[in-house]
Parts: sequence; C-alpha cells; structure tokens
Amino acid sequence: MLRECFKKIFNKEPAVIYFSPGRINLIGEHIDYNGGLVFPCSITIGTYAATAKRDDKIVRCYSKNFEELGVIEFSLDNLGYDKKDNWTNYAKGVAKFLIEKYPQIDKGFDTIVYGNIPNGSGLSSSASLELLFIQIFKDLFDLPITEVEAALLGKRVENEYIGVNSGIMDQFAISLGKKDQAILLDCNTLDFEYIPVCMPDTKIVIMNTNKRRELADSKYNERRAECDSALAKLQSKIIATTLCEIALEDLEANKDLLTDNEYKRARHAITENIRTKSSAEAFKDNDLIKFGKLLNSSHQSLKDDYEVTGIELDTLVEAAQRQEGVLGARMTGAGFGGCSLAIVKNDNIEDFIEKVGKEYLDKIGYEAGFYIAEIGEGPTKVKDIAE
Ligand code: GLA
Repeated sequence: MLRECFKKIFNKEPAVIYFSPGRINLIGEHIDYNGGLVFPCSITIGTYAATAKRDDKIVRCYSKNFEELGVIEFSLDNLGYDKKDNWTNYAKGVAKFLIEKYPQIDKGFDTIVYGNIPNGSGLSSSASLELLFIQIFKDLFDLPITEVEAALLGKRVENEYIGVNSGIMDQFAISLGKKDQAILLDCNTLDFEYIPVCMPDTKIVIMNTNKRRELADSKYNERRAECDSALAKLQSKIIATTLCEIALEDLEANKDLLTDNEYKRARHAITENIRTKSSAEAFKDNDLIKFGKLLNSSHQSLKDDYEVTGIELDTLVEAAQRQEGVLGARMTGAGFGGCSLAIVKNDNIEDFIEKVGKEYLDKIGYEAGFYIAEIGEGPTKVKDIAE
C-alpha cells in the first residue's frame, strides 16, 4: 500500500520501507523523570515510512494520516522549528541534532509516512515518529548510532525541539523493543534488563478511551514541576538526587515540608517505584495474580495521588477490574485520556470487550476501542503493509 502511494505522490519507486513501533508501559508510570523503574514494551502497531534518497538537500514528506496537508518540504540547510511544518517538525528536529554530530548527512529524501497507532491514544506516536526518522538517517548514511544513543536523541528532540519535557521511557522502549519481551529500565542509570512476557492463558487488552490528550502536555509539565519542587524541599532534610530513591518513611517524616499536592505526587512516585520492582519479580515468578493486583494499585495511586486519570480512564479501568477473568487493569502512558490496559483470561476476552464497551458507552456517550497488544521489535525495515 505504501509503495503504491509513494509512486503516486513522488512518481518514482521507494527504495526502502521502515517501521518504528509504539509502546505500552506495563507499570512504572510518571516515574521515568523521577529516577524510577519503568517496565514498558514496544508493540506491533506503529509508524511506517516508504523512503528514497535524493541528490539535493531537500526532504519532502507526505502523511497518509494527514493527506489534507499535502507534501511538506524543508531543506537540511534550514532546520529551525516552524509551526507551519506541522508533524514534519519531528523529522526536522532529528535532522538538526544529527547533522550537528554527523556533518556527512548532506542529502535529503522523499518519504510517505503512515501510522496505525490511534491518534492521541497515548501509545507514543511522537516517540515512534522520532525513532522512525532516526532509523531513516541511520540507514541512509550508515551512521554508527547505538540503540541507547537513538533513544537519547529522540528524547532530546522531544524536550529541546518540540518542547515537551518528557522522560526517557518512550524512546527507550521503542528503540530497544524486542518481540515478546518487556524492558525493566532504571531511568536513573539507564541499566536495563529484558524480561520475557510469557502469558499463555491471558492477553494484554489495550482499551482506548478515544479521548484525546488535549492539554495533556501542559499538565504533564505541571506534574514534573510539582515533583521537582517536592524533591528540592525534601533535599533540605534528606540526601537524595531523585524522588524515587527516597524511602516512604522519610517522606512521611518530612511531610510538613511539602504542600498537600507535592506530598501526594511524591508518594505516588515512591510507591510506584516499589510496585514496579515487585511487578518485575512477579513476572519472573510467573505470578500474574500478584502482577494484576499491582496494576490495580498503580491505577488507584495515579487517580488519587498523581491525579492524571479523569472520568474516561477511570470508567474504563474500573469497569475492567470488575469483569470475570480480569487479573488487573490500569491506565498506561501520560494519562488524562489515551489508553489503559487489562490482563484478561483468553476465554473471557470476548465477553470482557462487550461488557466494558457497553458500560463505557452508556456512561461516557461514545465508544471505547479495544485491541489485543502484541509485543514486537524495535525500528526495522519491512517489505510493505497490506492495508
Ligand atoms: C509520557 C512521557 C514518558 C512518561 C509517561 C508517563 O509517555 O513521554 O516519558 O513520563 O508519559 O509515565
């Protein structure tokens, strides 16, 4: 499908088609920027790009998802952020930072991009796009970029070029994704470990609220600021460089230093880190019942202490938790909308989707989306896509 589209738009054959996945986070939410542990994996839905190198310094981009925008063009000699360049700012940001390090990048390319991550769903379409463009440059110019370097570069684009103060989790999960493996990542040291996701009798069901994460980015930066000020105040009494390394007893003993909100944000960060550690152990012990309970308490903490859920996510997750055959459920990603996850026994999935779907529609007034998560590889080359 992308080959055909490329021929139609650019009047030539594409040379290569690249794929970059989206991600889900099993547990460890809103703690990557607090020096905590996260437990994400890349999924088989993501972003594709059919690409052919050019002989000049022009990059021409067309998105199957935003056809009304037509072909957006920029030059490698002019890589400043420009709102009117819309989604191609992700490509410009990648190009800008890569050229600083690899001046041999002296040619542009034509590309058609298509993503099958539902829009605004919190499955990290932006990190997927960043890693897609890093993969294109890496491959076209044979750049010696490691997967960890690619993740750090993607994060830099998000933070310094796009202006969202996100942590490392999404780019790391995508860049280092491996089929059927989750990544236990220490965001303080970047030490990581692959842990097999082997769940023969159950599946991970992704539930999309279909509520876009509007305003999420400003709220996201607000939560980060609250965590930073909580840490700064606690540091007057406790030796610590991140919130997640503070013991819960120490937080309780110094509660008076903090505003109510700062205290709650810090309590979420500290307890979520403990839950993530326990979840990785539960996974290694094949104890999905324990893991399910940890998912439920993670959601509760994100709802009450971190306050990033909202009626749509709470309705979906609480309906899911009540169904037969469900081991646990929680929101995933930044929150305020987007997606949640449930671990559901295979035999109950059909019933689960029907009942949770109905409850959501009755209460919220529009439909939720349901997908079975498949854990796939990081950025790679592919032949084409069928759709
Ligand atoms: C977004 C950010 C990540 C992480 C999550 C919350 O996805 O991009 O860095 O902070 O939110 O866990």
